[in-house]
Amino acid sequence: MNEEKIIIFDTTLRDGEQSPGAAMTVDEKLRVAKQLEKLRVDVIEAGFPMSSPGDFAAVQKIAASIKECSVAGLSRATSKDIDRAWEALQGAADPRIHTFIATSPIHMKHKLNMSPDQVVEAAVAAVRHACRYTSNVEWSAEDAGRSDLDFLCRIVEAVIAAGARTVNIPDTVGYTLPHEFGARIRTLRERVPNIDQAILSVHCHNDLGLAVANSLSALLNGARQVECTINGLGERAGNAALEEVVMAIRTRKDLLPFQVGVVTTEISRASKLVSSITGFPVQPNKAIVGANAFAHQAGIHQDGVLKEATTYEIMTPDSVGLSANRMVLGKLSGRHAFRDRLETLGYQLSQEQLDQAFRRFKEVADKKQELFDEDLIALVDDEVIREGEHYRLIRLHVASGTQDTPVAAVELDVQGERLRGASWGAGPVDAVFQAIAQVIPDLKQAGLQLYQVHAITGGTDAQGEVTVRLEKGERVAQGQGADSDVIVASAKALLN
Ligand code: KIV
Ligand code: ZN
Repeated sequence: MNEEKIIIFDTTLRDGEQSPGAAMTVDEKLRVAKQLEKLRVDVIEAGFPMSSPGDFAAVQKIAASIKECSVAGLSRATSKDIDRAWEALQGAADPRIHTFIATSPIHMKHKLNMSPDQVVEAAVAAVRHACRYTSNVEWSAEDAGRSDLDFLCRIVEAVIAAGARTVNIPDTVGYTLPHEFGARIRTLRERVPNIDQAILSVHCHNDLGLAVANSLSALLNGARQVECTINGLGERAGNAALEEVVMAIRTRKDLLPFQVGVVTTEISRASKLVSSITGFPVQPNKAIVGANAFAHQAGIHQDGVLKEATTYEIMTPDSVGLSANRMVLGKLSGRHAFRDRLETLGYQLSQEQLDQAFRRFKEVADKKQELFDEDLIALVDDEVIREGEHYRLIRLHVASGTQDTPVAAVELDVQGERLRGASWGAGPVDAVFQAIAQVIPDLKQAGLQLYQVHAITGGTDAQGEVTVRLEKGERVAQGQGADSDVIVASAKALLN
């Protein structure tokens, strides 16, 4: 069968990062981008360079290090924005400028204060300006879901004539229904005379829980690029979830005869990485990547799956990177098995990193009998996160109980100097945070926005992964820590 290719455009680092509280540092964005490259998405939207120096730096760094995917930067329809986007993108193997302007009556009147003619003029000028830098130009009609269809056809024709190679139709406010959105795409295909000169793309938000359904409906009506995010992260209720779009296409080839280049076995890893970096947990019953997505609880289901997996499984856990024959390591496992497993999990560590990770593995294995892949990932990522840290935890002592006031004492290495702090608190975590704040008084001026603990695997001996988000003035900083002792993990997260 001659299957048409669907371009997977990931916007976790741009639209996903616009979720309140999902801000990522430049290095965190680079880690996500590298995982997206392993996942083999076609386009990574790395950020909005004009929006902040941090976004600019992230796009520039990602552009310089990603070789297997196109890297896109967002810009409004102004020359300044486009110039800035290009400045950040030019080192990329395949850079794409993505420029947008709103096209709905509501947005044009209340937000832009521009007439439809002025909007067409600005869109065409922006596309022409971007085309001076590259032919890989994408144009988006913000709020296309609520735009007048005649006007949408007119502006799409104009931007294609100006040089846009991809035309994106966002349902910005997640308002449309699948049959309606599909019809919108079909109308564009039928009525815009030069539509064959561009790829039609869609970008659906999930305000009514329909982002994936709308995206699939658009594909059935001629769209050939889907914009989506890992775990469905994004503004408000989020964007279409990449893993759901991709697995729907893979699983229902009979009705969705398309080809996607995504390496689906990297999905689970990408989901965990984004969740751990942003501190946004994945709900247990979330399709594809939720902890229960492949769990069979009811006796009848378990019996069926044991007899024949396809009775209740429409896709295999292995296909999304959850290996059924999970390799378990323990304290008797040697360096060779450890290195082998890490390589299978996609890690390429230097000798020094491997030695350090192996030392840490032995420490954890002393406390926890069985270490699953998730444990190894947490352990290695934890070491990577901690490389070059300004503050290192040397020692921690905590006492708490039903009759006693919780107290904590810490010893930190601060750039080679050993410093100590001690305090009591409302609970053991509070006591540890107060003790650390004695050593780092700046912490007292920062507000705690988020403190979250997540068990990496099942069981009471599971490692806990803690995310801490602090706010001071305009700055928001986030840290992670993992350990089989959640109090230690909390201290590490705060220091990170
Ligand atoms: O939702 C939206 O309209 C967007 C555009 C900027 C593509 O994110
Ligand atoms: Zn969006």
